[in-house]
Amino acid sequence: MDKRAFFLSGKKCVLIPASKREAGFIEKLINEEEVRKNLAERFPRNQEAIMETLEAMNRKKEIFLVIADKKTDSNAGAILLHDFSWHNRRAMLTISILPEFQGMGLGYESSKLLIDYAFKNLQIHKVCLEVYAFNKRAVSMYEKLGFKKEGRFKKHSFKDGKYVDLLFMSLIHDE
Ligand SMILES: CC(C)(COP(=O)(O)OP(=O)(O)OC[C@H]1O[C@@H](n2cnc3c(N)ncnc32)[C@H](O)[C@@H]1OP(=O)(O)O)[C@@H](O)C(=O)NCCC(=O)NCCS
Repeated sequence: MDKRAFFLSGKKCVLIPASKREAGFIEKLINEEEVRKNLAERFPRNQEAIMETLEAMNRKKEIFLVIADKKTDSNAGAILLHDFSWHNRRAMLTISILPEFQGMGLGYESSKLLIDYAFKNLQIHKVCLEVYAFNKRAVSMYEKLGFKKEGRFKKHSFKDGKYVDLLFMSLIHDE
């Protein structure tokens, strides 16, 4: 397997702390149309912008990990835990997998690894996320992980020429 340091490891993937070395991969991932259409980001992001984000996240003690597929030894996606509210023990989750690595269980396993870590080591008690209601694949993965829909914001975001609904979902530790 990859010689890079990894932070968490599962059967299918390892989660690697994102650094300058991964900036090219992250640039490819977040500019990929199939991924981008499901994310809130609207503007093109180059490697310099990505490095600024990584540095800002490091300063704030937020987590940005690259998901590497163990079988092919390749970068497959990214997973983030951010916007921590330490006094409320909450954090937000964001995940993206390259189209060629989707549907192989990497999204599920990497989410499980990071959420378990947050519950057991950061004393996070609630992981939250926002997802477009049209993103059935993501909603179904979040439900498989145990997330519940808490709210639906009607016509909340302007995407691809129309207003779309946004779901707020959460997973509470030990519930
Ligand atoms: C959403 C996403 C993270 C899922 O990751 P993945 O690695 O493809 O998903 P997995 O293979 O781990 O599958 C986990 C579950 O997701 C659901 N799922 C996966 N592929 C699916 C598909 N084609 N159709 C419907 N549900 C699907 C299923 O519930 C699946 O569980 P199952 O295999 O037991 O049926 C990934 O597709 C992705 O990055 N999409 C683009 C970016 C995005 O939408 N990010 C989330 C923004 S909120």
